[in-house]
This record gives sequence, C-alpha cells and structure tokens, in this order.
Amino acid sequence: MEGKKKIEWAMKWMPVLNDVRGEFQSKKPFKGMNVSMALHLEAKTAVLAYTLKVGGASVRISGCNPLTTDDEVAKSLRDDYGVSAFGRRGMTREEYYDNLARTVETEPDIIIDDGGDLTTLVLKDREMYKNVKGGNEETTTGVVRLKNMEKAGALKFPMFDVNDALMKHLFDNRYGTGQSTIDGLMTATNLVIAGKRVVVAGYGWCGRGIANKMRGLGANVTVTEIDPFKSIEAHMDGFDVEEMKEAIKRADFVITATGVKDIVTPEMLKHAKDGIILANSGHFNNEIAVDDIEKEFGRGREVRRNVKQYSVGRKKIYVLSDGRLVNLAAGQGHPVEIMDLSFSIQALTAEFIAKNPPKKARVFPVPQEIDLKVANLYLNSQGIKIDTLTKEQERYINSWQEGT
Ligand code: ADE
Repeated sequence: MEGKKKIEWAMKWMPVLNDVRGEFQSKKPFKGMNVSMALHLEAKTAVLAYTLKVGGASVRISGCNPLTTDDEVAKSLRDDYGVSAFGRRGMTREEYYDNLARTVETEPDIIIDDGGDLTTLVLKDREMYKNVKGGNEETTTGVVRLKNMEKAGALKFPMFDVNDALMKHLFDNRYGTGQSTIDGLMTATNLVIAGKRVVVAGYGWCGRGIANKMRGLGANVTVTEIDPFKSIEAHMDGFDVEEMKEAIKRADFVITATGVKDIVTPEMLKHAKDGIILANSGHFNNEIAVDDIEKEFGRGREVRRNVKQYSVGRKKIYVLSDGRLVNLAAGQGHPVEIMDLSFSIQALTAEFIAKNPPKKARVFPVPQEIDLKVANLYLNSQGIKIDTLTKEQERYINSWQEGT
C-alpha cells in the first residue's frame, strides 16, 4: 500500500509524462515489444515503467545500484501495475547481476539503462541482444562507457544519449542533483550546512548544481577540477578553486561528482580535519576510494543509518552510504518534477526507437523534436506562455543585409 501511495504521489506531479502516457494509451507504440530497464527503482521510475506498459510493452525492470531500490515501490509495481520488477535495497553484488540478467531474459526489443551495466551485460550474449532495436542511456557515466564501446567496435545496436538532451541535463543534472544531494546529506547527518566549508569535486552540470545549492544554504564552497575552463567558470562564479589535496585540509564536507575514481584517497584523509564527512553523488562508489580506505583504516563502524565512521589515527572521518550515490541511497532521489522531464525524454526516445530504429550501432543524440516537445509540454503544464518571432523578426535574423 505504501508503495502505491508513493507512485500515485509521484504521478500527480509528473504532468508531462502523464500527457505522454495519454498519447501512448491510444497509439500503443510498443505493442508486442519487450522493454528491459535498469534504473534506480523508485517511485518516479515506476511511473516511467507503467507509462511504457500502457504503451503496449511488456516491461521488466531491475535496480541499477544495490542501494537505491525502494522495496515498497518494487512490490507495488509487481502487484498493482503488472510490471516485472527485480531487486531489493541492499542486494549483494551477485544478486544485483542476477537481477539484471532476469531483466533481459525475455530478449528485449528496447533497453533503458542508467550507468551502463545492463548494456554491458546484454552485449556479452548475442541471444540476449539479437532483437534489440536500440536503447537509451540516462546518465553521464553510462554515456562515457557507451562512447568507449562504440570506439572499440563493441556496440551492437544503436543507443541514444538521453543524458545530453537539453531537457535532461540542464534540469536533472543541475537542479535535480543539487537538491537531491542536499536531501541525502541532510537526511544522513541532520547537521547544519550554513557556515561549513563544503568541497565539491567536479564542476560539470552536477557539480555546478551542488555548489550553487550549498552556497544558497550558507556554506563556504571550494571547487576542485581538472578542466581549466570549468575551473575558471567556478572561480568567476565566486567559488574558491583549489587542488583536492589542499582543499581537504579545511573541509567539513566533501562531495564528489566527477565520474572518475580515487578523488578522495586514504593519503589525503591523513591531512583532513577531525570529523570530515565524505559523500559521493557520482554514479559509481569509487570516487571516494572506499576499498582503499577500508584497507588502510579498517572496516569502519555504522554510527547512524547511512553513516560509517573510520578512525584515522586519533581523528574520526565519516563516509555516507558507503560512498554510493548519496542522493538516492540516503535521500529520495531527484525531485519529482525534475524526473518528469528526464523520464518524458526517456519515454519519447523509446517510442522513437520503436518506430524508427536507426540502422547503425552508434551512440545517437536524442532527436531535437523530442527535446522541444518535452519543453513545450512542460511550459503548457505550468501555464507559462512565451513570445514567438513575428514574420518581420524572422526575416531580420535570417538576413545579412539589414541591421545598420
Ligand atoms: N530517480 C530515478 N532515477 C534517478 C536518477 N538517475 N537520479 C536521481 N534520482 C533518480
């Protein structure tokens, strides 16, 4: 019952996806197709899975991270919405891969992935991918992996880069990650942000969002980067920019959002302040080198739900949710309205694959008309009207002769 309530609450605040579902209800674009998904299995994701089912698909879904499945939601998907949902919060590595395998045992026509593990698994076996017309990838880390597969000639079907659609990354990566990271951090610790020194590693769309929201809460924010342009941007946005090995000495919180491993290492922690709190918002649990930390400082002790304490000499350091995505493992994931946009892009891109699967096994951008459709549906749902160019203005911007 609780799972159903969570799904119904999410649905109420997802007007764009609800419109898309209305269209799917009459057009049935996925009639007779199997759709296999590996996403963070929580309430908003359930609305996407149900939307594809309403569109005629037989849907199977598993979690894309061992710590981010909402068990009540997974149960409700199975019991109330007719979707095969696999996984549980806290599943072992073995269970995780078993569940991914169950998701694709029906030889999918379309796959939807978050992080690249499902795609990697499917590509291992021709029997599994022989019917795949194409798929979607939700997140930055997954897209990086896909592009490497493409380069190596390992990709066997077309994949769409949902992450880089405007209506995805401009809102999801920035406002979504910004808010949900703070949700996770606050829920895990119940500590004040104002006046604290927060170090944000990475100034991509996610890092920008986290840094800005932290500043909004009164934190003093330092950014660490490897990219000279993004470093200058962070500097001109008013943040301190430093190397991590220096920044960590003053940090109360460190939040990683880079997509790269070993951002925080045991060696750096020897120079950190007593009580430093480490959290990760990137897809994989290797940005904070938890395995190395455990090798060097022992296994740690859970002192509060989602908070592990390690002793570094006489100092204590804390790692949130075992270095896994803090916004989903300790928080509730991105706000509903944000996932409405991302998952509408997912649903419409899946429809595009069902109707016009590209022939080449490449990574494709989401067609611009899908981005525009989601933007217009969103504006409409909010009652926001915007100006349009007059004929005269159009002529003006398309001409090189006028303008003096
Ligand atoms: N909820 C479902 N998928 C999510 C994602 N990729 N990031 C944050 N919240 C989510």
